[in-house]
Amino acid sequence: MRSLYLSTILFLNYAAGDILRGVDVPLYAFAGGQATLSCSYDLRATRLYSLKWYHNGTEFYRYVPTERNRPIYIGPSHKFSVKELYRSDQRVTLSLTRLSVSASGQYRCEVIAEHPSFRTEAGTASMTVLREPLTPPVLVGAREIYEPTELIKIGCQLRRPFHHEHKPTLQWYLEGSQVGSEWVTPYGNALQQGSSGLSLHVPGEQIASAGGSLQAECRLTLGPHTLSARKTLRVRMRMISYVDNYHSTGSKRMGGSGFVFVTGAILISLLLV
Ligand SMILES: *[C@@H]1O[C@H](CO)[C@@H](O)[C@H](O)[C@H]1NC(C)=O
Repeated sequence: MRSLYLSTILFLNYAAGDILRGVDVPLYAFAGGQATLSCSYDLRATRLYSLKWYHNGTEFYRYVPTERNRPIYIGPSHKFSVKELYRSDQRVTLSLTRLSVSASGQYRCEVIAEHPSFRTEAGTASMTVLREPLTPPVLVGAREIYEPTELIKIGCQLRRPFHHEHKPTLQWYLEGSQVGSEWVTPYGNALQQGSSGLSLHVPGEQIASAGGSLQAECRLTLGPHTLSARKTLRVRMRMISYVDNYHSTGSKRMGGSGFVFVTGAILISLLLV
């Protein structure tokens, strides 16, 4: 009874149709570079009739298992070169190389189930190919050493301006953890569009209490791409505090026997006199 109920649900699910499981395309890629595209599907009761990829409505890849068990790359194309990286009965992954800027646009994966349903589903994702590669951000105003009483300020900037639509984001990290908004402010000329930055403000005492140094990182992110600029922040540790520490831990470790030793020494010196 229970299994009958379950199979009805599965059948209804299948009939409702979700052959296509996902279309993965990076938001951004770079001219001359590479992008990995993936299309996942789940056919359950039926089989795959065809899987096709389109760019801006033009087909560039086709896999039809019944025709012959090998894919067809439609081309050649000035936009990119296509290579199949992986193919199973659940997923097809392609690598596009030698990307040109005109490879920007809409990528559509279309899956068709075999006879009798010939059910068709498609998913679309867009990718923008930028002319220039990303470069790491630039740190401005960092010094080698700071005082523990200082407020440490470091700017982080993009190396070149970006179109506001395709502008990377900047984030500060200390020892790998993202810095809270209370320590971060906008940096640079806000009027100069596309070249603004983000500055980090850390109280020196924070670095001192962490042992005198912390690794700061400004991370630039654009879609799946990340680049960083790093700097070790150091504060001057006063030697007196090391000496204090040494003495206090030393006397603690000595404990009662230290007292015995000292009184013994006094007794001996009294006897010598
Ligand atoms: C595809 O469309 C995008 C966005 O509309 C455009 O930038 C790109 O040049 C087009 N590419 C081709 C080859 O049609």
